[in-house]
Amino acid sequence: MAPIAQIVRQQHTQTTETPMAEGTGLLATRRPPSGAPSGTVVSSPARRHSRTERDAPDRRSFSLIPAASMYTSVDRPSAVCVLTLLAALTTACGRSADRVPATTATAEELVSTTGVVVSAHHLASEAGAAMLAKGGNAIDAAVATAFALAVTHPSAGNIGGGGFMIIRLADGTATTIDYREKAPAASTPTMYLDAKGMIAPAATDSGWRAAGVPGTVRGLAMAHGKFGRLPWADVVMPAVLLAEQGFALSAPLATELNSVVATLLASFPASVAAYGKPGGSKWVGGDTLRLPQLGRALRAIAEVGPDAFYTGWIADSISVQMRAHRGLISRADLAAYKAVEREPVRGTFNGYELIAMGPPSSGGMVMMLTLNQLEALQIASRKRSDAMTLHLRLEVARRAYLDRARWMGDPDFSEIPLARLVSKEYARELVAGIDTQHASSSAELGKDILTPATETPHTTHFSVVDAAGNAVSNTYTLENGYGSGVVVAGFLLNNEMGDFNKKPGYTDQGWAIGTPANVIVPGKRMLSSMSPVIVTQGGALRLVTGSPGGRTIPNTVLNVVLGVTVFGEGLRAAVDAPRLHHQWMPDTASVEAGTATPEVLAALRTMGHQIREEPARSQGDAHSILYDAATHTARGANDKRSPDSGARAPRQ
Ligand code: DON
Repeated sequence: MAPIAQIVRQQHTQTTETPMAEGTGLLATRRPPSGAPSGTVVSSPARRHSRTERDAPDRRSFSLIPAASMYTSVDRPSAVCVLTLLAALTTACGRSADRVPATTATAEELVSTTGVVVSAHHLASEAGAAMLAKGGNAIDAAVATAFALAVTHPSAGNIGGGGFMIIRLADGTATTIDYREKAPAASTPTMYLDAKGMIAPAATDSGWRAAGVPGTVRGLAMAHGKFGRLPWADVVMPAVLLAEQGFALSAPLATELNSVVATLLASFPASVAAYGKPGGSKWVGGDTLRLPQLGRALRAIAEVGPDAFYTGWIADSISVQMRAHRGLISRADLAAYKAVEREPVRGTFNGYELIAMGPPSSGGMVMMLTLNQLEALQIASRKRSDAMTLHLRLEVARRAYLDRARWMGDPDFSEIPLARLVSKEYARELVAGIDTQHASSSAELGKDILTPATETPHTTHFSVVDAAGNAVSNTYTLENGYGSGVVVAGFLLNNEMGDFNKKPGYTDQGWAIGTPANVIVPGKRMLSSMSPVIVTQGGALRLVTGSPGGRTIPNTVLNVVLGVTVFGEGLRAAVDAPRLHHQWMPDTASVEAGTATPEVLAALRTMGHQIREEPARSQGDAHSILYDAATHTARGANDKRSPDSGARAPRQ
């Protein structure tokens, strides 16, 4: 690799000459001069990240950033540097720069026969694409993207949290990796109740006691160890370099950091030191964020392997700090943590097959039960936005989420009647109870679990397909944006303990669920809604998608799946399409602006639905890939709900 300074100078000259599309949010489709990023896509709307209210997951606002802002960022030294480092990693594969590009950017989709990575940060997508160019497969790219997001997308990208990965190899075999966080040995079922026995939301919103034992590093290592092709250090290295060298903040990320440093992180000096602007002033777009402590931890993980995190100095650092702040995670908890390979939840729908995540994610079950009901109701013969379609979608979602509340938790601790829940027969029984003219009552349907008498952002999903057709669908999280707010050994710790049922036996008509399967037990994984999914058709790969958004996730993912499989939409249209949500309780449907006309919304209200209208583009963030197996062509569409997102293909 050439010295960084030299590469930076070359890159600066080359990329500042790159032609750009003007003003529309789209980047040029022309291939830039050799050595500069190519195959780029993407529009970049700005979004305000905030810790959202408990009853309104994932509220965001938007404004357009002109296209030029993506790569005019090469004016900024750190961006030049990082893009160059990734480029240098890419060229290490020795491919000719003159080769005809197998990549084109059509209207807002990146089309490639050599693989695509789509994530919430374009530099993380670039890190993954660099692995593909280097001869790595989709799993190498996914692991590199996940580590890079821990640097460039700090609200949710992580090594201090957990998640789920679905892997489908080109030969059709598929598996899932569960790297969900676990309850520490010192946890108890009622540890988040106050002296009066009431749920104390603040106890899991932030701080040392909110964190579950992180699973990300073990999960990524398991995926890489079983399926990766490149050396471990190579796939971690892009993240190390991003953290050590820094990267240019976009204006939305600068604003988000200023806000979180002044609020959530303010109580934790190490967190302010990591994410505050040195000198105490405000970040602005174009500033360079360097994360040297995170770089040190990532470098140790790259050089020593995952044991650096679970039994080495990082584990020591976590346990010492935990003890000092009355936290729960011990060295023994970390040493005992294992990721688990599990069978996917599978089902068929309208001629497609779904490969989804099983418990402790509720995502696969909720999506399959929803799709089976929709199939029984012959949804494929209906239009996306008419009143009957929306009524039926809300009714089936209500029922699927009720079974989520009733049954779901960690399968290592509870019996879950999964086979029945995802069967066609059970779906037919459920739809028999749907009234086509009137909304049902969630309270009436769920009275067996209701006690007579909230999840929040942030998470991130990315999708990867390589030239051979191997696919990875990965969603991982810190729970809230920036997790617990606590930085230890350079990284943010999750506040995932809040996903457990906090008051055993207490299920109300708001957000509280108290069913036994998801009550806190030491060593148990908390229930999740994360729903990475892979859809196939006739045994061939078709769609890779997933999303953040707490309990809205299965409904968001289904919106994309239904767009492609039922409503005849292209990928961009399916990702852009307005989304709706119902989760049984609270008994209110939320709809993104544009979901339906005022007349249709009025008709739904007349049927008895409580409808809350949300801002446009406020639900989820589904970075997706559509695949055509006949031509081995992948189309990547980033979700414009995410300001820094991007699709990237390997440079040739
Ligand atoms: O695992 C879960 O379901 C939640 N912890 C996910 C949180 C989330 O998606 C927030 N993101 N927007």
